[in-house]
Amino acid sequence: MGATPLAQEGSRNIGPVILLGPPGAGKGTQAKRIAERYGIPQISTGDILRNNVQGGTELGVQAKAIMARGELVPDELVCNMVADRLRDQDCERGFILDGFPRTPAQAGWLDAFFEHQLVTGGEHCLPIVIRMDVDYNQLIRRITGRKTCTAPGQHIYNVYFQPPRVDNLCDIDGSTLVTRNDDREEVIRKRLQEYERQTRPVADYYQQKGRLISLNGDLPVDEVTQNMFYVIEHHP
Ligand code: AP5
Repeated sequence: MGATPLAQEGSRNIGPVILLGPPGAGKGTQAKRIAERYGIPQISTGDILRNNVQGGTELGVQAKAIMARGELVPDELVCNMVADRLRDQDCERGFILDGFPRTPAQAGWLDAFFEHQLVTGGEHCLPIVIRMDVDYNQLIRRITGRKTCTAPGQHIYNVYFQPPRVDNLCDIDGSTLVTRNDDREEVIRKRLQEYERQTRPVADYYQQKGRLISLNGDLPVDEVTQNMFYVIEHHP
């Protein structure tokens, strides 16, 4: 699939992009590339929650133990957090939701949010919903090999597939690379179970509405990116 030259893409509005997929599918990796190409923000609920945990905010205190167990943070807390973020001015031309919605209740909330925006004269109504399908064993290898940087960009590496040039240092900002607290074997299992139980039905929800696009996430990173760009640029 061929994507449009970058020069044409910097200023046009992009419908909201929703990236669905199990832990380790590559949502964060691809969201950063989409954000860079189209100049729209990546809204990762996992990153926002981790920043709150690190900053010791009230939300972070509530979320910390839940995340460490690999369970989902309550819908109300996450929806309020997303609502706050979507009001920021940088979301006006579009945005990428990475890790949200993750339950049918969150998906229903998001539809209502978009509908309200439309009623009040906003533009964001029909999201581009892309699900990344990845083989189970590949997911385990991706998660166990992941390292993320400690700077605000939270750049992502993988000791097997995307190693940094210098061991344990971010190529981009030189910060130290760390293993995420929830990338431990017993927690990974729980996160994958939660995906099957709570998030797979979200894909079914969008499928029933005829809005789900499935992509092969098993391909090398660059190929997945090219396919993502194609889907975004050819979306009605
Ligand atoms: P979150 O941070 O969203 O984690 P996740 O969904 O489990 O997804 P990951 O970040 O593990 O994986 P990813 O798909 O982004 O993959 P990545 O690009 O890093 O959520 C964490 C926790 O926060 C949840 O468990 C929950 O507690 C809470 N939470 C968050 N959102 C919530 C919500 N909406 N509601 C309730 N609770 C919520 O890639 C993985 C690795 O693979 C990397 O090392 C990368 O380099 C490598 N890689 C990527 N693509 C490829 C490829 N094509 N080939 C080879 N390697 C690749």
